[in-house]
Amino acid sequence: MNRDEFYSDILDGLACYYASPFIADILTTVGHCNAPDLGAALNKNQISGKLWLTNELYKTADGHLGNIYILGGWYGVLAAILLHDKRFDIKEVVCIDRDEHCKPIAESLNRAHLARGKFRAITADVHQLVYEDLLTSGVSKTVPDVLINTSCEHLDRFADWYAKIPAGTLQVLQSNNYYACEEHTNCVPDLATFQHQAPMRESLLAGSLELKKYTRFMLIGYK
Ligand SMILES: C[S@@+](CC[C@H](N)C(=O)[O-])C[C@H]1O[C@@H](n2cnc3c(N)ncnc32)[C@H](O)[C@@H]1O
Repeated sequence: MNRDEFYSDILDGLACYYASPFIADILTTVGHCNAPDLGAALNKNQISGKLWLTNELYKTADGHLGNIYILGGWYGVLAAILLHDKRFDIKEVVCIDRDEHCKPIAESLNRAHLARGKFRAITADVHQLVYEDLLTSGVSKTVPDVLINTSCEHLDRFADWYAKIPAGTLQVLQSNNYYACEEHTNCVPDLATFQHQAPMRESLLAGSLELKKYTRFMLIGYK
């Protein structure tokens, strides 16, 4: 038995044991998509940060989230976690990433949600989004009730992007101090710097999560 069969048997068994459609979708995605860094998207640090987000979002907002936009959404792991979480009532999750390789992988990881019309992936640069014109420009069929960006550490020209965020939309932002990763062009050294970078008129949460190699920061509120 080769290593692929070995891991695939384990994931298959775990999907059965936990009756988990998410694990089943991960297994299908591993088998059908060329996603070398899917392991990084599903590692302990990434999942911990996303579970922290869903739990705090549930505590600070109620479970009725409407249309969620995830910016810099990568492979749609957070979308899948939110959509599998029975505490939330979600109309649709729209996952936006500028890397065209992300869309088919995100659709595969969210295949059940895609089929139910609960998930959509769009390839776009978030700097190009004009939130007020999303419907008329044909970029999207909905407007966001919640905007999530867990890739703030990756976002160049952060101030320009933040200036365009609509003030009445609930925002959930994450960044970190993991300077060692060369793709991280916008890390912050601490929570206070992140709060300064993304000031909120109404702050619902500002917190830190200590992880193995770095600290993740999160802000929830209204600009
Ligand atoms: C490595 S991933 C996500 C890491 C993050 N910790 C998370 O899990 O959400 C960062 C993603 O941001 C995307 N990204 C960076 N700048 C972007 C932009 N201007 N517009 C859209 N996507 C962007 C990248 O293509 C990449 O898929």
